[in-house]
Amino acid sequence: MEKYYVSYQDIHRTVRKLSGLIRDSGFSPDLIVAIGTGGFIPARILKTYLNLPILTVGIAYYDIHNRPADTPQMIQWIDEVRAKLTGKKVLLVDEVDDSRTTLEYCLRELLKYKPKEVAVAVIHNKDKEKRGTFPAEVKRYFFGEEVKDRWIAYPWDAIDIDQHDRIIRERGGK
Ligand code: G4P
Ligand code: MG
Repeated sequence: MEKYYVSYQDIHRTVRKLSGLIRDSGFSPDLIVAIGTGGFIPARILKTYLNLPILTVGIAYYDIHNRPADTPQMIQWIDEVRAKLTGKKVLLVDEVDDSRTTLEYCLRELLKYKPKEVAVAVIHNKDKEKRGTFPAEVKRYFFGEEVKDRWIAYPWDAIDIDQHDRIIRERGGK
């Protein structure tokens, strides 16, 4: 199946739209938790519009002995970060809601630290059967764009960004 190519410009415009959806919802988060690495760039662009502090968490699918793990493992999840979640309204940010497995895992971890509220924001939601589910505590879910279930080629994965942008232009994007 053909990949869906998105440019930095597309990302920025979609994140702007996403920030509008969050603001219009009346949800007013205290902070962003960005899931690394895909969530870093959307979180930073969201900060331009929502002006919130960003905490980050890393996820690994390998344990510390480099063996594959059954469940994703939270890494770079330092005590100081956890302490900042209690009683706060948290916006969890990632680039894509694909299988929802990582998101579910992160949400369950976040909820252990008793935030006041947790919402999820992603740039792209893939329209597909999800393996993960959002815990019942999660009442708000925002996505910038819903896309068909196909591979999204993000600009930050491009080795040759000019070639990446050329493909978008050839397909009539801008
Ligand atoms: P989900 O909960 O957000 O749905 O994530 P899931 O576990 O299904 O995704 C596994 C990995 O695959 C994630 O990367 C996710 O970003 C990546 N992924 C899923 N669909 C796409 C896609 O269409 N395009 C690209 N480029 N990546 C996709 P990760 O392990 O978190 O790595 P990182 O890239 O965030 O460091
Ligand atoms: Mg990721």
